[in-house]
Amino acid sequence: MRETQAQTVQVSALSDDLAFLDIVTEWDVDSAYHEWKAGIVVPPTFLAGSLPRVIAICNQKGGAGKTTTALELAMALVARGLRVRIIDADPQEASMTVWLRYFYPEARAEADRKNLMHLYFDQTVTLQQITYATPFEGLYLVPSFPDLEDVETKHPAGTDTALQYHLAKADDGIDVTIIDCGPGLGPLTVSALVASHDVIIPVQAASGLDVRGAAALNRTIGSVQGRLNTELRVAAVVLTDFEKSSLARQIGGKLAKAYPNAVILPARTSVRIGEAQLAQQPLRTFAPSATTVLDYDRGASLLLGNGTAA
Ligand SMILES: Nc1ncnc2c1ncn2[C@@H]1O[C@H](COP(=O)(O)OP(=O)(O)OP(=O)(O)O)[C@@H](O)[C@H]1O
Ligand SMILES: [Mg+2]
Repeated sequence: MRETQAQTVQVSALSDDLAFLDIVTEWDVDSAYHEWKAGIVVPPTFLAGSLPRVIAICNQKGGAGKTTTALELAMALVARGLRVRIIDADPQEASMTVWLRYFYPEARAEADRKNLMHLYFDQTVTLQQITYATPFEGLYLVPSFPDLEDVETKHPAGTDTALQYHLAKADDGIDVTIIDCGPGLGPLTVSALVASHDVIIPVQAASGLDVRGAAALNRTIGSVQGRLNTELRVAAVVLTDFEKSSLARQIGGKLAKAYPNAVILPARTSVRIGEAQLAQQPLRTFAPSATTVLDYDRGASLLLGNGTAA
């Protein structure tokens, strides 16, 4: 792929839409349904993160909205002037690397076009070498392919701490790194959690809460917090594909209780997300006026203070 003129990303105006998703300190589970209005929960204990920052987007359940959340959150941060890197840590064929286009430097020989898999297997590869420009100014991608699965099956030495090591060493002016995890809790996800300051958990609000899956995720996060990364925190739960319903209200209530220190952010449903994926574009550029774009905007500014570059 050839490098082309990068596109700058605009910040959407919040304006009158602010009335829909108010910022509240607790999820309303008691008022009459017709009076209930979904809000963004920001607990009084929540502190916006400092830069540079590494955020893992995790849920072992497939189709929870991880990739969508990773990309739209990244675009919201880029629109605020930050330099953002997305790491595609999912070996599935239909992952971020297919959705988001990226460019190999023209001068680089084919054999030197490395990707995330090489970081785990090849001691000589650096994170800078596998971070590629995308069509959007300020947005970078570390791509991956199905052979990333080898990390799960062969588990090379140092897998757990490989990403943490390379991110700590990287001195490339990236403000926020977002790791899009696959639907599993294997070595790749553990490696992402070890490397991160924050975890964001997307949950499909309409498909019911997978209680056992949620418990397994919590055990994995807990074990990483206990051993390899004591600073790791669950910063947010994103209710993806959100529409007002009794089920969504109950799920939001349960999640707000389960993660009392996390932001609970509804990301409203948009039929245009599928079209945006097909067009290989983020929703933010494909349908900039979609309300989901505003939701991720607000999430981005809550998670990182005013979200502007230092
Ligand atoms: N706000 C939304 N409105 C409508 N559809 C959505 C929304 N967010 C996500 N989706 C849809 O949900 C589906 C799953 O989303 P996504 O691929 O982001 O999940 P995932 O957790 O990354 O999946 P996997 O576990 O396979 O990696 C996609 O078809 C996507 O278009
Ligand atoms: Mg995904």
